[in-house]
Amino acid sequence: MATAFRVLLLLLTFSDSFVSTLGHGIGINYGQIANNLPSPPHVVYLLKSLNMSRVKLYDANPNVLTAFANSNVEFIIGLGNEYLEKMTDPLPAQTWIQQHVQPYISQTKISCITVGNEILTGNDTQLMSNLLPAMQTIYASLANLGLSKEVYVTTAHSIGILGNSFPPSAGAFRQDLLEYIQRILDFHSQTGSPFLINAYPFFAYKDNPGQVSLEYVLFEPNPGMKDPGTNLKYDNMLYAQIDAVYMAIKAFGHTDIRVQVSETGWPSKGDPNEVGASADNARLYNTNLLNRIQQNQGTPAKPSVPVDIYVFALFNEDLKPGPSSERNYGLYYPNGTLVYDIGTALSSQGYLPLPLPHMDYSASKKNVSKYLILHELVCCLFSASFSFSSLA
Ligand SMILES: *[C@@H]1O[C@H](CO)[C@@H](O)[C@H](O)[C@H]1NC(C)=O
Ligand SMILES: *[C@@H]1O[C@H](CO)[C@@H](O)[C@H](O)[C@H]1NC(C)=O
Ligand SMILES: *[C@@H]1O[C@H](CO)[C@@H](O)[C@H](O)[C@H]1NC(C)=O
Ligand SMILES: *[C@@H]1O[C@H](CO)[C@@H](O)[C@H](O)[C@H]1NC(C)=O
Repeated sequence: MATAFRVLLLLLTFSDSFVSTLGHGIGINYGQIANNLPSPPHVVYLLKSLNMSRVKLYDANPNVLTAFANSNVEFIIGLGNEYLEKMTDPLPAQTWIQQHVQPYISQTKISCITVGNEILTGNDTQLMSNLLPAMQTIYASLANLGLSKEVYVTTAHSIGILGNSFPPSAGAFRQDLLEYIQRILDFHSQTGSPFLINAYPFFAYKDNPGQVSLEYVLFEPNPGMKDPGTNLKYDNMLYAQIDAVYMAIKAFGHTDIRVQVSETGWPSKGDPNEVGASADNARLYNTNLLNRIQQNQGTPAKPSVPVDIYVFALFNEDLKPGPSSERNYGLYYPNGTLVYDIGTALSSQGYLPLPLPHMDYSASKKNVSKYLILHELVCCLFSASFSFSSLA
């Protein structure tokens, strides 16, 4: 199977006249806490039709990294919080890189590893103490294997690490986290890696719908807010949060660290008490944001640095715990249908976002025959060219 399968995947890759320039642009989080997602080759097709060239994973799923071989899609992969303690030891750290990065990297671009997610805003002090040592050990292992120049090492923080976020010029980290953050910032500065932040203006609105303007959080026309410290005007909360992070970092003397938004998004559905969770608001948030990203906008304090984001998320994830909103952040249902119309936000990149061609969406779960997989890929090729010519 291997050869025929690869030939078809190559065909799928290179026959895609609709994917040309890749590189910078919109990223997307490909979370997989679900039991009904399409198989990775289907997701390759979907992302190509969207011209999305940057994907963030929460693990280092070998099926995903293999499916995207030679695709020009660039990955951030993740090392879960549960591995952190082990990764402070050089031997397991090196083994992890040898098993999860080295075998794939010649075919699938892996640009970054996030070591842990939102650890400093959790309550596990042991994890908090292990965070930087694990990042350092992973970095040293990459260096040993000659990979530290192509793969950055970082971690993703919740915006909750800020003790003050408005006005942005007064942005500051939480006092109790300073000792951790200072050393993490030094690590970023020494290794050139980005500072990652998960930022959801949705939460600010949901917690305070009476005070926070919906237009301001959704990038809709609104009077905006003026930062009295700088006189800069903010017309949306996300950009204000990003500048607050830059300012908090600057307080440590660092102007050399890039801030990336590793997660942002809006749920299309929520529980009755989750004010603001709706398909209309999710559509406005994501389409307005994507349109701005495509104009390479910077923030008011960093106008020449394009905002760099990973949308959360590609699919609704049915097994995520917590309130209903948690299972409804996807742009897509697992069957490849858009949850809401994203209008020209993605089609302005050249192509209309298409639903997945008819396939067996649970292929990854079942004991699917090799024939069926090949058959699906052929169908997929044909329906892709058919759909494009019929849309043109
Ligand atoms: C820590 O947080 C978790 C989940 O947020 C919670 O279930 C647990 O009770 C907390 N533990 C302590 C000691 O506060
Ligand atoms: C995809 O799933 C959604 C949500 O379950 C459903 O509303 C929609 O009709 C499905 N689309 C197709 C083409 O099956
Ligand atoms: C795909 O996106 C890139 C930016 O990531 C852009 O430069 C390119 O023009 C887009 N391609 C199409 C066909 O829209
Ligand atoms: C899966 O396929 C393999 C090889 O074709 C076969 O040996 C095995 O019994 C199948 N398993 C199930 C659960 O059908």
